[in-house]
Amino acid sequence: MKKYIFITTPIYYVNAKPHIGHAYTTIVCDVYARFCKMMGYNVKFSTGTDEHGKKVEQSAINNGQTPQQFADEISTLFKDLLPILNISNDDFIRTTESRHTKTVKYFWKKLLDAGYIYLGQYEGWYDIRNEAYFSENELIDGKSPLGGEVTYMTEPCYFFKLSVFRDKLLKYYEEHPDFIFPISRKNEIISFIKQGLSDLAISRTTFSWGISVPNDPKHVVYVWLDALTNYLTVNGYPENEDQNEDPYWQNVVHFVGKEIVRFHALYWVAFLMAVGIKPPKQVVSHGWWLSEGQKMSKSLGNVQDPYKYCKVFGSDALRYYMLRELSFGADGNFSKESFIKRYNSVLADSYGNLCNRVLTFIQKYCDGVISRPETLTNDDTAFYTSVLEEINLCPQLMHEYSFSKYLEKLEHSITLANQYLDIQKPWTLKVSNKNRMKAILYTCLENIYKITKLLYPVMPIASEKFIRILNIEPEFKYNQNEKLPNNITLGKIKILFPKINNDDIDVYTTV
Ligand code: MSP
Repeated sequence: MKKYIFITTPIYYVNAKPHIGHAYTTIVCDVYARFCKMMGYNVKFSTGTDEHGKKVEQSAINNGQTPQQFADEISTLFKDLLPILNISNDDFIRTTESRHTKTVKYFWKKLLDAGYIYLGQYEGWYDIRNEAYFSENELIDGKSPLGGEVTYMTEPCYFFKLSVFRDKLLKYYEEHPDFIFPISRKNEIISFIKQGLSDLAISRTTFSWGISVPNDPKHVVYVWLDALTNYLTVNGYPENEDQNEDPYWQNVVHFVGKEIVRFHALYWVAFLMAVGIKPPKQVVSHGWWLSEGQKMSKSLGNVQDPYKYCKVFGSDALRYYMLRELSFGADGNFSKESFIKRYNSVLADSYGNLCNRVLTFIQKYCDGVISRPETLTNDDTAFYTSVLEEINLCPQLMHEYSFSKYLEKLEHSITLANQYLDIQKPWTLKVSNKNRMKAILYTCLENIYKITKLLYPVMPIASEKFIRILNIEPEFKYNQNEKLPNNITLGKIKILFPKINNDDIDVYTTV
């Protein structure tokens, strides 16, 4: 039976232009989505923008625009970035769309009818940047625990009876040990719950930029309840009401940054439990990027611009760098210098040069035509085995979100191929033993082909380009016994990753 998976990025706030941190979550999801497709899954993959709330309202005012105009502009930037990053999403949702308003209102009524909403009064410290209330004892040095400036506010608001979900949530985590990834984040959530869960304020009256509460339009729906519900909107709710029977909803994987695990693994799960919808399968969280060793900020002028990286190096290179450089889950440092270093040493010199070496040799000394050899030497067999030992570990590594290790295995396989060529020296056999020369080239090409197929989720463009040079129609389905066709006639050879000799490249966001 065909497996289904629904992969989601968080939806991005529209208060600032997209930077490399946003690009990261989206790239990670795309790599995983392409991998799952390769493994034969039916994949639904969504992303989008989170457009309501006080923060957006304020940014719009500061910019002399209406919130809708402002949201339209920034949302377009996020949407336009997707083809630039080569993202294969199926949907792009905006929380200002009518399909979403309908879902949120419906979902609210469901919560209300189930008896989980009541009207009360909220008093506390509000962190506008993170759109969340905190109590006095949660503040750290006068700021919210998420680092934002806070203002004391009091307002009538509707509450969600979060407190009654304490035991149910803990039981859910216990029965689904892989629900929160990595385990360190799970422990944080569990200890947060154990400190005591208060009911959650889920409406606001101090601003109007949001979805109005059904039957009480003075209130707008809390931006996180609004935003989290996007996942149901994308999955066709409420028309497709019985999500528990929907094949994609059985296997929802939310990829999120570490700072928003709580919203997905706790609030979202409780909301869903309240209306009787099955919680997601997994919340997978990643760490944060610093830029050149510091937090990215406009004032420091160190906001790394994904558009510029793609323009100069191509989207494959950005995707490769981000997945390889950061050990998934941990924080990492994005720097132009290390980017260029990895690009040149791995993509240009190691992989690109290997492909180019073998292809031009076949073109030049075999008229571009090569066939499977009848016999293999022990060295050939040993080479096949050593590459297989590496690449057979790749699917499991991807399932564990060990993206960097996945690429490490492929890099090591490329090194093995380069070593094989250096030892076998086919160029010395041009006259003396052409058959053996061809056997070496075919053996090398077949292994590059296998490696390249596994590079596909991360570097789809280069992968497809290479396979087209072999005159093969690219089809990306995982096959442990992948083989190159017996007879290959090369097409036009193209350089996959030209070397970068100039590091005087502007990569920072200008506005
Ligand atoms: N709108 C909410 C999410 C609602 S989902 C129902 C939000 N938006 S955000 O724009 O602030 O962040 C979106 C994603 O970008 C998060 O996963 C966040 O971790 C990621 N990143 C933003 N800056 C980042 C870095 N510097 N590094 C890595 N990722 C970071 O939260």
